[in-house]
Amino acid sequence: MHRAVGPDIQRRDLKPWTVVLLLLLSLTVVVMTIGFLVHFLGSDHKMEYYHGTFRFSDLQVKSNSGQISTYQFKELQEMNENLVDEIFIDSALRKHYIKNTVVTLTSEEDGVKTDVIMVFKFPSTDQRAGREKRIHSILHQRVRNTRALPTNILSVQPEGCGKRVVPLIVNRIMSGDIAAKSAWPWQASLQRDGIHQCGATLISSMWLVTAAHCFKSSANPQQWTVSFGTKINPPLMKRNVRRIIVHERYRSPAREYDIAVVQFSPRVPFTDDVRWICLPKTSTSFRPNSTVYITGFGALFYGGESQNDLREARLKIISNDVCKQPHVYGSDIKFGMFCAGYLEGIYDACRGDSGGPLVAKDLKDTWYLYGIVSWGDNCGQKNKPGVYTDVTYYRNWIASKTGL
Ligand code: ARG
Repeated sequence: MHRAVGPDIQRRDLKPWTVVLLLLLSLTVVVMTIGFLVHFLGSDHKMEYYHGTFRFSDLQVKSNSGQISTYQFKELQEMNENLVDEIFIDSALRKHYIKNTVVTLTSEEDGVKTDVIMVFKFPSTDQRAGREKRIHSILHQRVRNTRALPTNILSVQPEGCGKRVVPLIVNRIMSGDIAAKSAWPWQASLQRDGIHQCGATLISSMWLVTAAHCFKSSANPQQWTVSFGTKINPPLMKRNVRRIIVHERYRSPAREYDIAVVQFSPRVPFTDDVRWICLPKTSTSFRPNSTVYITGFGALFYGGESQNDLREARLKIISNDVCKQPHVYGSDIKFGMFCAGYLEGIYDACRGDSGGPLVAKDLKDTWYLYGIVSWGDNCGQKNKPGVYTDVTYYRNWIASKTGL
């Protein structure tokens, strides 16, 4: 009886090795999918916060009252933050170091105690325990009496972004007007071997946002400097570039992912002429036709030269529906891009404006960075407005690289 049943069952059931093979196959698919997801969503790296303390015993900062004055606090804070930046930018952890903020300065009998929050990003596969030791020993090599402990602070708030000291008077880059001093304090000029190449936007005391295509010729930080102020020459301030992070999915000549962040040092002080702009939330969307502004040192006409004086132009956001029409840019407008300007032409960005800011203010007169000058057909031509990288689309990417 069971002999009759036997072959029957065998014919319907899968052989054990097929089952094992199928299981293995589906397991591989699952593991690979998870791997891809983790890789592309960028969650294989996590921000980690460490609390460090150190003492300077040779500092005399006490006033008569025994307190550290606001003036001294600012100065010491800046000095210490720059010191910690230098320490980690020059260390083996440079790729993982994001930023630091001095949170308290305490005047003690024999000097000043500094409490600093340091932000790092490590692959989640690494063990946290070993990292504490490394951070501590790097700090300790440069400053005495240090301690580094992990902490669970969620975010360190940047100083008031997006406020400017001059009122908005734009009369109406290509065909733009010369900008007033202090009007666009977040504008920077990125220079390779001392020559202006691109615009960039200050988003904190040491980070800039710009376009990826600016680094097509070289992404070696040693060749690049950044200057601030409304003139390229003489600049108000100049800094050395320390790190250039181009979007890992940017592939020239494709124009998607045209975004990069740049870290320089030492940090710039927050003044009337140099200050950072706010980054929008991921969710913000602007209405077509709303007013925005672009600024840059770029050419005044196609084929022209970069300018020494910063220029500004007022533009309107053009909806994707309009910009994707066949006689405008059709299917060249991809995700993470938007158009701004006028279909009649005239006002537009041009060569040398790339990487620079497209900004708008909210009802409280706080300015936000919405776009990065990316590309366009010619400059100021009819039906060929400027195309900008959509900062809201890449907001999380910026956060993942800068902690901002
Ligand atoms: N890609 C150009 C540059 O390197 C500027 C692009 C903007 N062009 C335009 N027509 N809006 O500076």
